[in-house]
Amino acid sequence: MPVVILISGSGSNLQAIIDASNDSYCPIQIRAVISNRANVKGLERARLAGIETVVIEHAQFDSRDAFDKELICKIDHYQPDLVILAGFMRILTQQFVEHYHGRLLNIHPALLPDFPGLNTHERAIESGVKQHGASVHFVTTEVDGGPVVLQASVPVKSTDDTKTLAARVLEQEHVIFPLVIKWYAENRLVLENNKPLLDKKEIPATGLNYAETRTN
Ligand code: GRF
Repeated sequence: MPVVILISGSGSNLQAIIDASNDSYCPIQIRAVISNRANVKGLERARLAGIETVVIEHAQFDSRDAFDKELICKIDHYQPDLVILAGFMRILTQQFVEHYHGRLLNIHPALLPDFPGLNTHERAIESGVKQHGASVHFVTTEVDGGPVVLQASVPVKSTDDTKTLAARVLEQEHVIFPLVIKWYAENRLVLENNKPLLDKKEIPATGLNYAETRTN
């Protein structure tokens, strides 16, 4: 399945997806990696893997609308069946999100609906939750509010700072994101009437739990 991946930074999720596609775990062809920032490590990772890269710097555009229009134009040039937001740190316009309805996936570093938005690890520690984690979801116009497909939980330890907690969550991101992409590429996962279905079964509102999918 042809895909395009959008990034803004280090691209460790991108790397996990590249690795999953290389060892044929995940039947995708990454047609391009697009970044809204130049000189980020994720672009280097893509180049090393022989994947085409494109930089579209958001700062060069007068409006979010103009940036998103250019983004759509570049993405559609590659004719992807799936667009993957792998640490893409821009809020997308309604036009963009609707254009890719049902074929736009994002990873968020929290157990949605808890902690949408930024600084999730800091907020998790401050709020005293005992469990934190990551969610993969379809993107809708509500920021981090689209239907969740899969979540993975990690414990929050009393000794954690944002760095140690982020590292624990990131390790799980690298597992659940390739898995959801694999489901999608195998046509097992679809969004129907705004509800995600896996193997034709409706996914519960908080998403599937990775630990449970492993035991079933
Ligand atoms: C990840 O934690 C992702 O969930 C968040 O930004 C981070 C990106 O990391 N949206 P990387 O660029 O994949 O290393």
